[in-house]
Amino acid sequence: MSTKLLDLVNITKSYDGVTILDDLNLYIRENEFLTLLGPSGCGKTTTLRILGGFETPDAGKVLFNGQDITQLPPNKRQLNTVFQKYALFTHMTIAENIAFGLKIKGKSKAYIDDKIKYALKLVNLEGYENRSPALLSGGQQQRIAIARAIVNEPKPLSMSPMIRKRRLLCRTRLLS
Ligand SMILES: Nc1ncnc2c1ncn2[C@@H]1O[C@H](COP(=O)(O)OP(=O)(O)O)[C@@H](O)[C@H]1O
Ligand SMILES: [Mg+2]
Repeated sequence: MSTKLLDLVNITKSYDGVTILDDLNLYIRENEFLTLLGPSGCGKTTTLRILGGFETPDAGKVLFNGQDITQLPPNKRQLNTVFQKYALFTHMTIAENIAFGLKIKGKSKAYIDDKIKYALKLVNLEGYENRSPALLSGGQQQRIAIARAIVNEPKPLSMSPMIRKRRLLCRTRLLS
């Protein structure tokens, strides 16, 4: 049995005195694909925000490969989150959006160009490098957000909400 990659241990979170997550225990092993399903407001996004480091739990721990990362900021975590709102940079081209994290990491232009090509192919948007994200459909924007996350080679990739059924083909490609 493979070991736990991500492990939420006894997570509790309240907002304004209302308990949203009550002693949540959940783990994900390598290569597992996990979907959180539940009614609106039940705490799915809160769980993902705690995983990503955008929110701290009131109690409990987030472990990554057995290491306590509860207090680690998002940019120090080896995981990427694609949020429901894609937060693409509208003043940048698609290529610049995808390159953003890699530039911060100081990667070479050749490396970045390669990665952009690879990621755009993966999400089925080859040749879109110089377009503006503002002119894309919602689904295409979502795929660009996924491409932007993937080039950083995160171990787990967390997506909110889950990619919809009609994008199953794309998802299958991403996972294969
Ligand atoms: N920053 C916040 N401040 C106050 N309440 C919040 C905050 N974030 C989420 N909530 C509340 O927590 C509950 C769970 O929200 P959320 O995790 O976004 O649910 P889901 O993603 O399952 O629809 C909701 O009632 C929401 O209003
Ligand atoms: Mg949500």
